[in-house]
Amino acid sequence: MSSFPSVPVFDAVAPLQAQVAAWRAGQERLVLVPTMGALHAGHLALMARARTIGTRVVASIFVNPTQFGPNEDFSRYPRNTEADLALLAQAGVDAAYLPEASAMYPAGFSTRIEVAEVSEGLCGAVRPGHFSGVATVVTKLLNQVQPDVALFGEKDFQQLQVIRRAVRDLDIPVSIEGVPTLREPDGLALSSRNRYLGPQERAQAPRLHAVLARIAEGLVAGKPADPLVAQGRAALEAAGFGPVQYLEVRDADSLAPVPDVSGGPVRVLAAAYLGTTRLIDNVAAG
Ligand code: PAF
Repeated sequence: MSSFPSVPVFDAVAPLQAQVAAWRAGQERLVLVPTMGALHAGHLALMARARTIGTRVVASIFVNPTQFGPNEDFSRYPRNTEADLALLAQAGVDAAYLPEASAMYPAGFSTRIEVAEVSEGLCGAVRPGHFSGVATVVTKLLNQVQPDVALFGEKDFQQLQVIRRAVRDLDIPVSIEGVPTLREPDGLALSSRNRYLGPQERAQAPRLHAVLARIAEGLVAGKPADPLVAQGRAALEAAGFGPVQYLEVRDADSLAPVPDVSGGPVRVLAAAYLGTTRLIDNVAAG
């Protein structure tokens, strides 16, 4: 038997908003951590951060169908609600919000949020409609929960910038905070999709971070991006990755392509397959 009390679960907006209103009346500071479940230590770091900046924490779990393409892993995306709720209880979360798909997207739902520029290229180029699905569901979650702060992992760095831009452009009254990526001791970024990796792929996977870190080092040493990226791509292919969907150096704020770090902080971002598993990662430089 768990020694942790269970976390209150809300599956509809009205009771959740009644709870949020009660907290607000008590001057509580509310932090939302949106997730798709399959929680791991990376999510728990978000919950821990939430606890330090707010007095109440709501975690949402919703595997959002509109951000998956027709040939992507929506149907096999790992779902384990019982284990997730136990982890949220241990993490001291005050409420779990698990909306039904039919409540998020009722019949006749016809609105999409499109965020230009930061959605373009990188994952946006290879996952058409993905960021529109993310921006739409996150906008809904923010409107439903009305938190003071919402936390997102930096592992999905383009997603974080898309959400920041949507929140800014639509005047949504919330602070968006990115939380640094949690890594395995060998450098592999924690991800719900790591569980798809076979043992040999798991052994190869840390090369992705190693290559990104090597490019970041070169950039900080004043080298131009293009040759570093070409060497990095070759190193990934030699390590068994393929296809490498992208490996790029971008401005950390606008995500515009940049030739080096002379214009300010950059991110080195990559997406690459190992077998049938698609891994993404990024590191800061400059
Ligand atoms: O990063 C995720 O888990 C999802 O994209 C998010 C932000 C919860 C939206 O569905």
